[in-house]
Amino acid sequence: MEELPKERYPTSMPSPFDTLKADIASAKTLADLDKLEQDLFGRKHGHLTLALKELGTLQPEERTIKGKELNALKQECTALLDTRRKQLQGAALGSLAESDTIDVTLTLPQRERGHLHLIPEFIRNVEDVFGRMGFEVAQGPEVETEDYNFNLLNIPDTHPARDAQDTFWISEDSMPPGGRYVLRTQTSPMQIRYMQKHQPPLRIICPGKTYRKDADATHSPMFHQFEGLMIGEDVSLANMKAVMITAIRELISPKAEFRFRTGFFPFVEPGLEVDMLWQGDEAQSREGKWLEVVGCGMVHPNVLKNCSIDPKKFQGFAFGFGVERMIMIKHQIPDLRSFYVGDLRFLKQF
Ligand code: DAH
Repeated sequence: MEELPKERYPTSMPSPFDTLKADIASAKTLADLDKLEQDLFGRKHGHLTLALKELGTLQPEERTIKGKELNALKQECTALLDTRRKQLQGAALGSLAESDTIDVTLTLPQRERGHLHLIPEFIRNVEDVFGRMGFEVAQGPEVETEDYNFNLLNIPDTHPARDAQDTFWISEDSMPPGGRYVLRTQTSPMQIRYMQKHQPPLRIICPGKTYRKDADATHSPMFHQFEGLMIGEDVSLANMKAVMITAIRELISPKAEFRFRTGFFPFVEPGLEVDMLWQGDEAQSREGKWLEVVGCGMVHPNVLKNCSIDPKKFQGFAFGFGVERMIMIKHQIPDLRSFYVGDLRFLKQF
């Protein structure tokens, strides 16, 4: 039987595998390593691939021996490639860590945060300030009956006080029969709604939207008011002034300038109005002017009777603040229409 050569490549000639192995160990870049891997394992021309293909042409015995050798060589080369690759990757990361540093103290541009519009923000303040004085918040409908908005507040159909409130009447065909409906012209109807359900002692505020056919720098067809009501056995006008002055100072400024003067509202007796010094348009001339912001007074006995409350036993006060007007004074805003146009240049200032 023919003697099989031990080595396919004579020992005098360096086998391509030895060269390749040495090249792997000294490869400088990952790209070089990829190339060497191709030289060994490439599908068409890889030295190892070709050598393995050649196995098929050998005698069985030689094939077994050669097969084992080539398998060992394959594992060795794979391991070498792996080791070198890890070394090169490690080195690459190391130098990246040095060249590519992250400044953790760098501040990123802040995301802009939204905030409440100044009307709801003011109303939250109102609820907070009065909440601390023991007032609860009550809310009611913006579409009111004529009874709640006028009649039960001692403003009958023929009363001239109705003229002071340019009312949006709601077309009768769109509403249930049995009465006339309005967009509430004031938050005062909540006094009636609340007193019909609750007996004194009681203390409430009712913030909300109100509507009148009015439009100029200090009037808008939709605006906000908050009503206040306090009824008990010995609630006096002095109590009313104390509560209102506390609220005005807290909501606007401890130095806010205001004046009480008599005023007429059919649902209070006596009635008062509060004006506040408004710098507004006149700020430059430093003259200022008075802007009416509140109507108030002692609740009229007829109103108490309309709610089945005995006016001989109970009495109290009510007030209605104009929200926009208070904010105008607080921030010296000359035109109330700025609240509604949605101009961010205006809104962002607050
Ligand atoms: N509702 C009145 C208005 O809108 C303001 C007002 C005046 C409310 C006197 C009151 C009050 O509670 O007692 O003009």
